[in-house]
Amino acid sequence: MSVFIYDHPLIDYKLTIMRDKTTPSIIFKQCLDEIAMLMAYEVSRDWPVKDMLIETPISPMIGKDLDCQIVLVPILRAGIGLVDGFRAIVPTAKIGHIGLERDEKTLEAKEYYAKFPAGIETSKVIVVDPMLATGGSAIDAINQIKKRGATDITMVSLVGAPVGVKALMEAHPDIKLYLAALDEKLNEVGYIVPGLGDAGDRLFGTD
Ligand code: PRP
Ligand code: URA
Repeated sequence: MSVFIYDHPLIDYKLTIMRDKTTPSIIFKQCLDEIAMLMAYEVSRDWPVKDMLIETPISPMIGKDLDCQIVLVPILRAGIGLVDGFRAIVPTAKIGHIGLERDEKTLEAKEYYAKFPAGIETSKVIVVDPMLATGGSAIDAINQIKKRGATDITMVSLVGAPVGVKALMEAHPDIKLYLAALDEKLNEVGYIVPGLGDAGDRLFGTD
């Protein structure tokens, strides 16, 4: 598995705003949108393009068009927060959904919903979730996506814990992982330290 950890002042600065516990939900979401757009720039770096003949106001020219279908798969709920930013950059992306919730005692992810667009098996699939803690949710989501025949899979998270990265790497060595930050550890109840708290609750105001 290849792991890319961003090192960019705009991402660090916006992620710091998200981590701050006094940041209100609306600003949290705004920073998440902006970070998603910035992350999409690097995630898309090797996507194929094809020539496209257009006419500028001055002359004809051969431009570029994306030559791949992208399927974004947010892990519900918190992953939904990364969709708007990615879609702003890649408006042709189709969206799948997978609903997973961690059992607060066992920390195991339980699936409660899954729906994917047709053609996922030949698409570039980008799984998005702000948090990679034990890695259980990401591993499960990717298991489900592989069952549908997808082979080109990328995981995008804001904050990861070393234990989650290791677990994901062992379970799915064939995927790519992009993280805005790799934090220190998990605490005794499975939260990332220093992290940003419960991403879903902060995003949707449910704490
Ligand atoms: C959070 C987060 C990830 C998961 C990460 O979701 O959004 O999906 O935990 O933890 P893991 O790596 O240990 O699996 P949660 O289960 O709290 O659901 P929510 O998004 O609905 O709040
Ligand atoms: N899920 C979250 O939302 N935050 C964490 O720190 C860990 C799992």
